This record gives sequence, structure tokens and C-alpha cells, in this order.
Amino acid sequence: MNNNKRFSYTATFIIIKLFGLSRDPQFTPLVDKKASEYYEKVISQLPSPLFFFKTLLKNPWLRHFSIFMEDLVLPGDLMHLLMRKVYIKDAIFQALNDGYEQVVVLGSGLDFSAIRTSQLQYNSFELDSPNTIRLKYDLLEKLNYHNPFLHFVSSQIKEKGIVTTLKSHSDFRTDVPTLFIAEGFLDYQELDTIHRILDDMNALTDHKSRFLFTLFDFEEMEPVDAQIIRDSVEFVGEYLKYNIGRDHIEELLHTHDFSLRWVVDPETMNKEKLKPLDIENPLFKGFYIMMAESSP
Ligand SMILES: C[S@@+](CC[C@H](N)C(=O)[O-])C[C@H]1O[C@@H](n2cnc3c(N)ncnc32)[C@H](O)[C@@H]1O
Repeated sequence: MNNNKRFSYTATFIIIKLFGLSRDPQFTPLVDKKASEYYEKVISQLPSPLFFFKTLLKNPWLRHFSIFMEDLVLPGDLMHLLMRKVYIKDAIFQALNDGYEQVVVLGSGLDFSAIRTSQLQYNSFELDSPNTIRLKYDLLEKLNYHNPFLHFVSSQIKEKGIVTTLKSHSDFRTDVPTLFIAEGFLDYQELDTIHRILDDMNALTDHKSRFLFTLFDFEEMEPVDAQIIRDSVEFVGEYLKYNIGRDHIEELLHTHDFSLRWVVDPETMNKEKLKPLDIENPLFKGFYIMMAESSP
């Protein structure tokens, strides 16, 4: 969990990296235009010295060098971020099409998903630790992203779970199909918190729920990459806790009446999104995007 005294640096660096990719003609086709505008606005508002990244990444040479270095030091990180935004955006639209009426983003950080769905007039909830939610609330207020469908819920999910905080929110509805999103979030939780979250999602609505999430399987990754991920997250005061693993996720979901509906693996991401654009940058092994559903 992130250091309680300040906002999440992992969440902030995700936006900085996506901003860099969104400025690069090779990757621009994979970055949604509205999200890319948002990244640029957010990065301009970041506290010093983080806003210097805007100047740095706008310069083509410095940007190329940064991408080259990042691919060298942690091969696969940049493309895994890009892929999760691409697939999760599509899966959100699919869920709305399938009749999901409410969106809850767990560990939302500075992500754009809840903003997007709120702009489409779906009740959307951003849940994160108090400092990160405060930063996002203030940022979005300054940038004019507030709207009546976007709700901010500040909670240490480990301690409080999500039932009490959401049920006591006047805009949360227990009678509609709800989409829960946990992008880059489960890896940061202990196993008992993951069990609790799965229970809580069932307890929150009388309807079916859909759960969209990402996970790393460290067993499948190059050991050095797994170690660098752990170390770099720890370096900014956050910790990866429990590694579920691809083989155990179905059983874990089943225990809580969720069934796994689809999985996107790195081979599929490469084949469907990167290769068609001749992108050869590395993508982590052992990185998955998954969707599960509970029965009503
Ligand atoms: C790696 S960031 C991902 C942010 C965002 N989902 C994205 O993909 O851009 C993880 C986020 O989860 C939040 N987080 C992790 N554990 C949490 C917990 N137990 N309760 C609330 N927020 C948590 C962190 O504060 C951080 O914003």
C-alpha cells in the first residue's frame, strides 16, 4: 500500500509514461484522444519537480531516449501500460453496451476511465487512498472535469473494505448491474484483502457484477523483471503484496461465485494491437487482463 502521507507515485508515473507514449507518432494510434488530452492537462498541474516531465517528453529526442532507456531498464513496462489502457477501454464500452449501469474503479489513481464513463452519464466512482483521492479531486476541479456523475470515495480498502463506504454513498445504487475495475491494483493487496473485495462486490448489489482486472504472474516473468518491478514500486514507498498467478485465479474467483469469462495474454496483445502497427517494443511476459462475472 502506498505511503499514507502522500499521493500514489506509481499512479502518477503511469500518467507521465502514458503522456510520453501519447506524444510519439508510433504509439499515438493506440492512445485514445480524450485520454491523451487529459494526460497532458494533468501533467501540467503536477507538483514540482514532476511537471518537468512535460517539457522533457514533448521534446522528440529526449522522449525517444526516455522510451529507449525505459525499455532497456524494465523491458515490457511501457507496452503493458499501453495495452491495459487499450483493452480496458474497449471492455468498458462492451460492458456499457451489455447493460451495466454503474462503474466502480478500485485504486483509480489518476486514471481516466471513471471520468470517461461519468461524461457518458453513468454513475462512476473513483476509490483510492485519502491522499490520492484528494489530489485527484483537486486536479479535476482545476481542470474542469467535475460533473454530477463522477464521485470520489476516499478509503483504505484494506481496512474498510468497500461495502460500507459505497453503500453509505447517496449516489451508489444497489439495484443495477455494476462494473468493477481493478487495474494495476490486485497485485498491491494481501490475499485476505482480495478475498474481501470479491465478497464485497457480491454484497454490494442484488444484480450481477462484472469484474475487469489486471494481474502479473511473476512465475512466468523473467526473474530480473519481476525483481525490478518490486524494487521500483518499493522505491516510491508502495509494495506488491500477493502474487495470485494465472493458474490460481479461476479457483479464487470461483470461491466467491465469479466465473472467468475471458483472458488477454501478452501473445494476443502483440498479435492484435502491436504487430499490426509494426511496434516491436518489449511487452512483459506474465501480464494478463481478465474479465469475470458473478451470477445475480
Ligand atoms: C499502480 S496504481 C494504479 C492506478 C490506476 N488504476 C491506473 O491503472 O492508472 C495503484 C493505485 O491503487 C491505490 N491503492 C493500492 N492499494 C490500495 C488500498 N488498499 N486502498 C485504496 N487504494 C489503494 C494506490 O493508491 C494507487 O493509486
